[in-house]
Amino acid sequence: MSSDDLKRQAALEAAKLIEPGMRLGLGTGSTAKHLVDALGAMVADGLKVVCVPTSEGTRKQAESLGIPLTTLDETPELDLTIDGADEFDPSLRLIKGGGGALVREKIVAVASARMVVITDVSKEVPVLGRFPLPVEVNPFGLESTRRQILKVLNAAGHDCPVVLRRTPTGGVYVTDGGHYILDCPLGQIADPEALSMALFRVPGVVEHGLFLGLAKAVIVADDTGLRIIGNPA
Ligand code: 5RP
Repeated sequence: MSSDDLKRQAALEAAKLIEPGMRLGLGTGSTAKHLVDALGAMVADGLKVVCVPTSEGTRKQAESLGIPLTTLDETPELDLTIDGADEFDPSLRLIKGGGGALVREKIVAVASARMVVITDVSKEVPVLGRFPLPVEVNPFGLESTRRQILKVLNAAGHDCPVVLRRTPTGGVYVTDGGHYILDCPLGQIADPEALSMALFRVPGVVEHGLFLGLAKAVIVADDTGLRIIGNPA
């Protein structure tokens, strides 16, 4: 099965958690896209839900499928968010932000009673850090902020570059919030909680891609079937 087929399997399993009347957070990325497609079909069949998208891309997809949308200002508390991830470890700690939506993804996840992650097995790691950690920063003072982040990483034992994310055509990648992203290929993160706090102490850091203590469950698809880690209910 292709990686995309596995992502679809995980998404379809997660769609079974959706109940009438729910307030949902909709993730971003190729795995979440399958979930939104499945939800669109459920809505077409008469399911009543309201949803907050975590990116403009997901908003457009949901709108095209007729999925009713709301905002966190109108609906500040959500029942369930279903989203993908770039990595997860045995404690269900995540790295997210490969798709650049980490700020909205984290705000929506925190506003939700439950966050369930959907992935193919390639995202499973014993220790976080194989995927470069995205750090979203204010464009003002970019180079100073980059150097401060480098100092934080060096102090935590990481000798790695801090790389400004670019678009495929070479322009600077700009997030939905108008910020930039610095990608940090850390290798292995010994203490994600400590690194999280240290990064937040750098002025200019808007958010980072460590999602700690947020995922209640991960639905993982591999060639042998589905595995559910944690409790999605
Ligand atoms: C977007 C994300 C995505 O959830 C993450 O990048 C996984 O993407 P995909 O489902 O395409 O593998 O964090 O910011």
